Amino acid sequence: MSGVKGLYKALFHEFMWLDSKYTHPPYHNRLMKEIFHPALDKKDRIIDIGCGAGGLSRKLAQIVTEGEVVGLDIAEGYIKTLNRSIERDKSGDYKNLVFVLASAEDIPYPNNYFDHVVVSESFGFWSEPKRGLAEINRILKTGGKLYVVNSHKEAQLWVRIPEKFFNLFSPYKENLYSSQEFREFFERAGFAVVDQKEVTGASLVTIGSNVVAPIKISSK
Ligand SMILES: C[S@@+](CC[C@H](N)C(=O)[O-])C[C@H]1O[C@@H](n2cnc3c(N)ncnc32)[C@H](O)[C@@H]1O
Repeated sequence: MSGVKGLYKALFHEFMWLDSKYTHPPYHNRLMKEIFHPALDKKDRIIDIGCGAGGLSRKLAQIVTEGEVVGLDIAEGYIKTLNRSIERDKSGDYKNLVFVLASAEDIPYPNNYFDHVVVSESFGFWSEPKRGLAEINRILKTGGKLYVVNSHKEAQLWVRIPEKFFNLFSPYKENLYSSQEFREFFERAGFAVVDQKEVTGASLVTIGSNVVAPIKISSK
């Protein structure tokens, strides 16, 4: 891609992920306290898909001290910077954390590898959500947990209006789904929904367990 279109996309990319460049947004603390702290074991393997600036991945890595955390994202800039920051931390706390450049639809890990899959404010951007969920079902251990955190159609107006406005101009379109649509996505991909709740008035957390063997998805 080149010229004005390329520049527009590059500039929008910088602006688009402004919130996630702020590595520790307050909702991460709420998620850690209310959702992840009670659910995790120090030996767990976790993948944080669409990890952005990696703040949540780091927080998760601080809990699973004898396990492993993978932060995965399609944005090369993030992954390069994050891996450099991890290099600097090598002597310290983050030996159990790696960042990987890949997409949710093609995850470079074996079947039944992870105990937990976290997707925070990323699912709405996926162009092939069903394919992503099939990949997640493949890499998640049977009985493992999937947590999708996303703003949603029933979110408060102060969340939905700026998102709608943003979508008008953005080359990265975010789909806003309803709580029912999240449930349907989960169930069709072989996940039983074990909980669903709002965390901040803006984000809905849908938690599923993969009770069914992976389903093959051939197209959108
Ligand atoms: C709004 S940021 C959220 C970052 C972080 N999870 C957080 O909670 O702050 C969305 C991220 O999803 C990533 N993303 C979008 N589509 C993706 C896909 N198909 N596979 C992997 N990552 C994706 C983007 O590159 C971006 O970093």
